[in-house]
Amino acid sequence: MADSAPGGTLTLADGFGVSRMGFGAMQLAGPNVFGPPKDREQALAVLREAVELGITNIDTSDYYGPAVVNELIREALHPYPDGLHLVTKVGAKRGPDGGWKPSLAPESLKAQVRDNLQRLGLEALDLVNLRVGSQGGTDDASLAEQFTALAELRQQGLIRHLGLSGVSDAQLTEAQAIAPVVSVQNLYNLANRQDDPLVDRCEAENIAFASFFPLGGFSPLQSDVLTDVAARLGASAQQVALAWLLQRSATTLLIPGTSSVAHLRENVAAADLVLPDEAVTELDTIGV
Ligand SMILES: NC(=O)c1ccc[n+]([C@@H]2O[C@H](COP(=O)([O-])OP(=O)(O)OC[C@H]3O[C@@H](n4cnc5c(N)ncnc54)[C@H](OP(=O)(O)O)[C@@H]3O)[C@@H](O)[C@H]2O)c1
Repeated sequence: MADSAPGGTLTLADGFGVSRMGFGAMQLAGPNVFGPPKDREQALAVLREAVELGITNIDTSDYYGPAVVNELIREALHPYPDGLHLVTKVGAKRGPDGGWKPSLAPESLKAQVRDNLQRLGLEALDLVNLRVGSQGGTDDASLAEQFTALAELRQQGLIRHLGLSGVSDAQLTEAQAIAPVVSVQNLYNLANRQDDPLVDRCEAENIAFASFFPLGGFSPLQSDVLTDVAARLGASAQQVALAWLLQRSATTLLIPGTSSVAHLRENVAAADLVLPDEAVTELDTIGV
């Protein structure tokens, strides 16, 4: 059967494949990812449309809102269709003012997994990313204690697969000695390419590299080169930025976020945009 998933399906482990074009649900919460959405019906519509468009990879966390985004996902999509994978992450908490605080003690990580299970209405989570840092790349602090705590939950059947977020090359190696790692989620896009070597390593080891902030996140990507290439191809700058990530390696996963159905459709259509070699060469000048 032909693969109808946008961007195709990436197989991360036996029996576990996700659409390479996914959806990042973080922006569905209120301003600064805190509190309820400005337009609740639109948020529910975006989630339902993502599934309609063939997306099987929705990225979330219980600290988005907090709780708000997971509750929206459950309301919009439960009972979940076959093949839909909710990817969550643990390792942080929100302060009363909306601040982001690392929360990496083993007991806290286990409580965060239970919160995700309960809020999403699941008996097991398909993929849990341990969020070690807010970006990744440089910090080589040991993650053994934290990753071991999640590996124990995997042994107990509460988690099927494990991943990492905000990690360096050395931290990936350390985690792999504890349990299999199927995905890495770090900040990476056309203009932020510090993780180029890690992207290549993930491809060589068939580990998914899920780029967060693929469109620049809270600081939208802006570049004359990007604008020019997009105009020539008759596409939007966002579509070109996403197509570049898809073509960057065979194991990149995209999780662009949006609170708009129109933007969601535009982003998913980018999975069909093929960038000619000369456009890639031009775009490659942006991040160096
Ligand atoms: N692991 C981590 O530590 C971490 C950190 C941050 C994010 N994440 C994950 O990564 C996902 C992606 O990050 P993100 O959503 O913050 O950043 P992003 O995908 O780079 O950008 C989202 C922003 O771009 C806008 N946008 C989206 N599509 C657009 C389009 N076609 N045209 C114009 N504007 C468009 C959105 O506004 P509109 O709503 O107006 O479309 C939103 O403001 C998150 O949802 C989250 O799941 C993970």
